[in-house]
Amino acid sequence: MSAHKIIVAIDGFSSCGKSTLAKELATKLGYNYIDSGAMYRAITLYFLRNRVDFADSMQVLDAIANIHLSFAFNERDQRSDIHLNDEDVEPYIRDMIVSEKVSEVAAIREVRAFAVAQQKRMGRKKGIVMDGRDIGTTVFPDAELKIFMTAEPEVRVMRRFKEMYAANPHINIDEVRDNLELRDYIDSNREESPLRKADDAILLDNSNMTRDGQLGLVIGWVLERTASQLTPNA
Ligand code: DC
Repeated sequence: MSAHKIIVAIDGFSSCGKSTLAKELATKLGYNYIDSGAMYRAITLYFLRNRVDFADSMQVLDAIANIHLSFAFNERDQRSDIHLNDEDVEPYIRDMIVSEKVSEVAAIREVRAFAVAQQKRMGRKKGIVMDGRDIGTTVFPDAELKIFMTAEPEVRVMRRFKEMYAANPHINIDEVRDNLELRDYIDSNREESPLRKADDAILLDNSNMTRDGQLGLVIGWVLERTASQLTPNA
């Protein structure tokens, strides 16, 4: 007997540790991990570099027609890096200049249609863990396991601050807090697939959880789902 591969959809606010969990889970399960936020960040980087006026739909559509996004596995860091028109842009997409604009770009209907179509294709063979804001509601409404992550606001600020400080010691904690608050507000209040918990998603507040504790809990949920779908060996 072998277990069916499933789709795991992880959504939640910024800096809840979604990508940490998603990455570890995918490694344990031998699944692909896709960071959907990286796609919106790479699109934002392209818009900034090419001075695309976000408010002009024609400019947005023209720009999207020139964007090719792909993921390539990076052996050294054991993660999938996002490539924008064949350039590895992983080193740039988490800069504050991108973070400041990404929620605005991710709220544009044409941008979402472009990214969501690609994300749906990536899930065709299942065996995927994807994290983002609308994965359980819009991208994979039929995902076998949906998780909605949250953590106390100050816990999230400290997590993001530490992550950014490693790359830039001049970063200011108030700047990080303001950016998180603004992004959560825009992500939750936009018209196009706003961030919300899918009705059938499990709520996971990890403010007081260890990484291992959280991973063990989620693996238990995956096993419950896959055990209920055992099929004869192919
Ligand atoms: O996960 P992240 O912080 O890297 O995501 C960057 C931004 O992209 C976030 O502010 C909202 C947006 N996003 C989205 O709208 N939908 C997704 N599925 C993933 C991210």
